[in-house]
Amino acid sequence: TQRVFSGIQPSGDLHLGNYLGAIRRFVPLQDTHETIYCVVDMHAVTVWQEPDALRRATREVAAAFIAAGIDPARSIVFNQSQVGQHAELAWVFNCVARIGWMNRMTQFKDKAGRNSENVSLGLLAYPSLMAADILLYKATHVPVGDDQKQHLELTRDIAAKFNNDYAAAIAAEGLGAMDGAFFPMTDPLIAGPATRIMSLRDGTKKMSKSDPSDQSRISLLDDADAIARKIKRATTDPAELPHAVEELAGRPEADNLVGIYAALSDRDKQDVLAEFGGQGWGVFKPALAELAVSVLAPISGEMRRLLDDPATIDAVLREGAGRARAIAETTMDEVRRIVGFIR
Ligand code: TYM
Repeated sequence: TQRVFSGIQPSGDLHLGNYLGAIRRFVPLQDTHETIYCVVDMHAVTVWQEPDALRRATREVAAAFIAAGIDPARSIVFNQSQVGQHAELAWVFNCVARIGWMNRMTQFKDKAGRNSENVSLGLLAYPSLMAADILLYKATHVPVGDDQKQHLELTRDIAAKFNNDYAAAIAAEGLGAMDGAFFPMTDPLIAGPATRIMSLRDGTKKMSKSDPSDQSRISLLDDADAIARKIKRATTDPAELPHAVEELAGRPEADNLVGIYAALSDRDKQDVLAEFGGQGWGVFKPALAELAVSVLAPISGEMRRLLDDPATIDAVLREGAGRARAIAETTMDEVRRIVGFIR
């Protein structure tokens, strides 16, 4: 079977990058794959989170999933900390992975900055927990934005080293697949016009939850006025829109806005340029703002409605966690046998 797993951190406002690079792409996969979508609260606490804010953000991500069209009856939707096997497998992976692998992660280097002695140990081990998220379900495909590519390569390295270190035990327990492997090699799904949405203020910086400028991102809970205002004020060069995608090279802001338009309308960038090539920003920005509001307003409206009733969201997460745990425990039980932990 083809199984999809992906996760989103509840660590601040969800933004357009999270939506276009990840959440929106989760929805159609429900028709073709078994799908598991997780609010990764244990990843969020690798940097300090106020407990109340963490609860709120966890429900917000769950509400965004549902409002965007993820059906908790078809997909498993849950928060990571309710399934203890994630932490348990992550520990085994902490002992398989090498510190050097973790030190090479660009996201760790970015987050730790020059002060890497004084960040949490969890921040360094972050990719090991992420590999556990994915491999606990033996997921074959992981839809993510471009910034997660290196973490997914590390997931494959961890799977390969586990398979290799424990090859004899995997065979002895009769737990190998055709090729003898226990964990599969997971494929990233990083495709489409929105794998890397950039800041609205600076086309060379990624749109991110941690950017101090609120003008740099469109939040999923922004109202129509805020969305329109942010798009109107977005930084651009003065030239008009080109007719061909190749001509977007060297124009990061233009490329970004065309990519956002394409992703919001399920078209490709060339298609968008066929319509808007030769036009100025005075035409394109209002059209983009109108499109963004028409897509995002129903989602934020539904999110607000769901967030009015936290008990119902919590019940969805609890039910999803029960289904996740059943799969996770099967894998974890096999891992304990392979590693030599007595039950
Ligand atoms: P997180 O919470 O930072 O982001 C969630 C998803 O949004 C994507 N994304 C973007 N896509 C396009 N443009 C952007 N500017 C942008 N910013 C964020 C991310 O690529 C991601 O897909 N480590 C992960 C969470 C995670 C996970 C997992 C993902 C934990 N375990 C297992 C997949 C599988 C993270 O921090 O995502």
